[in-house]
Amino acid sequence: MVHDMFRREFGLMPRVVRGVRAGDRERTRIVAAHITGLTTVLHTHHHGEDVHVWPALLQRGSADVTRVIDLMENQHARIEELAAEVDAAVGAWRGATAESRDALADLLDRLIRLIKDHMRLEEERAVPLMEKYITAAEWTAMLQAETGEMDPETLTLGFGMAMYEGDPDIVAAVISTMPAEVRPVIHSMATQAYAAHAELIYGTPTPPRSTEL
Ligand SMILES: [Fe+2]
Repeated sequence: MVHDMFRREFGLMPRVVRGVRAGDRERTRIVAAHITGLTTVLHTHHHGEDVHVWPALLQRGSADVTRVIDLMENQHARIEELAAEVDAAVGAWRGATAESRDALADLLDRLIRLIKDHMRLEEERAVPLMEKYITAAEWTAMLQAETGEMDPETLTLGFGMAMYEGDPDIVAAVISTMPAEVRPVIHSMATQAYAAHAELIYGTPTPPRSTEL
């Protein structure tokens, strides 16, 4: 669910950036905040895997695990490097010039290629190992550690973003792990938060799905 979110949001980014008129500082600020929000979530997601998931797999798995984890760690490092370049390019775009906009869009073209390659390989090779060696309870604890630092507004939007292409059963399972007072309201709040955000960024509450990109 989270991978589809990254594929969609990062996949749509280059065209959103290229669509911003040079000199339009207000629109630049809005799109820049969207990008920075997502590079932050990407960083948190990968950091969580690096700190919690890979060490557990290495400890519990056999020799076959090592090669997969090496590959995952290398890909994370490359993505982290490029994402840092993206963050710097977002900063350089503040003046809303055409040159800084196009430089950022070119970096985003490269980033989405890395993200798609990495997530496909992770789903093929690492996810089966996670299913084998990590329990559902441990997974929930990791997810809570990952999201525990975020403010409620960011969390609500982030969940709406993830839910957009999510399997309803998986969405319901994630909601069931949330605090009791959040459970009854989170689905509609998160749906609305993402619809409003998508309207702002893409001009529609129903942007293309990751499979349509
Ligand atoms: Fe990953």
